[in-house]
Amino acid sequence: QSIESGQFQWSAPSNIALVKYWGKKDNQIPANPSVSFTLNNCKTITKLTFAKKHISTPPIGTENKFSFDLLFEGKPKEDFKPKIQKFFERIESYLPFLKDYHFTIDTQNTFPHSSGIASSASGMAALAMNLMSLEKTLNPAMTDDYFYKKASFLARLGSGSACRSIKGQVVAWGQQANIEGSSDLFGVEFPSAIHENFKNYQDTILLVDKGEKQVSSTVGHDLMHDHPFAERRFAQAHENLDKLIALFENGNLEEFIKIIESEALTLHSMMMTSMPYYILMKPNTLQIINTIWKFRNETQIPVCFTLDAGANVHVLYPENQKEKVLQFIKDELVDYCQNAQYICDEIGNGAMQL
Ligand code: PMV
Repeated sequence: QSIESGQFQWSAPSNIALVKYWGKKDNQIPANPSVSFTLNNCKTITKLTFAKKHISTPPIGTENKFSFDLLFEGKPKEDFKPKIQKFFERIESYLPFLKDYHFTIDTQNTFPHSSGIASSASGMAALAMNLMSLEKTLNPAMTDDYFYKKASFLARLGSGSACRSIKGQVVAWGQQANIEGSSDLFGVEFPSAIHENFKNYQDTILLVDKGEKQVSSTVGHDLMHDHPFAERRFAQAHENLDKLIALFENGNLEEFIKIIESEALTLHSMMMTSMPYYILMKPNTLQIINTIWKFRNETQIPVCFTLDAGANVHVLYPENQKEKVLQFIKDELVDYCQNAQYICDEIGNGAMQL
């Protein structure tokens, strides 16, 4: 690659938190640690084209500004630009070359547009990987470890949970005594062995409501500042993460399910008990949860749900139950999905250069 101009392309997946990040301090520092499964099929693919600005090229007054065009699914997308502008402002001191280049950011998602699946994690992760590729071209001596850590660090500044979409199948973010190398600044691949019960763990995402969320995650995080239960919740996240560390090792799915579902409901409880309070679940979210509970009771199949900040339901289950669970979804859950839509995904490995 010449440093004058060139192109990179990366894909980065979405992730689903098991212990939820909800509440943050300044500079995207999480109020509690979290851990997620990296997904495989739901991802953003971003091509970054860069060309060095020459002193004579930029119009007067624009020399010291970020210069970029944004294409979403091949078409200019002006309404995404302020988000990227803000991201560039936040990361500029860590990537001093940003203002030397004009960028074209050409991005697309593999999941349906406005499906209610947040693309901020995969989108920011894919952009961060591309920017790190450019930095590596400028500083070829950097180690792989530095490359991925810094990519996660930058992605975090774009969207907190994006730092868990860089590398590894199970990723922890936030300082936790029992997780070696864990940090509030970037996500780390889970350091210990994961029991084979979690191998190719499945996540079928039921699309319950594809509408725009009434309350953004940014506002939700902020409402944790004066939240009556915040401190207890932050402590609970540490406790649940400790329990999960043991469960990842011993593969006890019954105990795993208890933590995962409790975390999902706790996240939504925080929303319901903030001021102002709000509810992101829809009636069909609850129908699905109750139907999963009934099915699990009757069959003893270790299937459970989790939720992110929205109405959609992630159905999690081991690969060896795939056939039975997919049949159950088709028979009993699909009617609760908008336009009968759901997406089959599973644990993946993180970002990939294309
Ligand atoms: O990364 P953000 O700021 O969009 O927050 C995401 C928060 C949750 O998805 C609800 C939980 C998580 O840990 O991913």
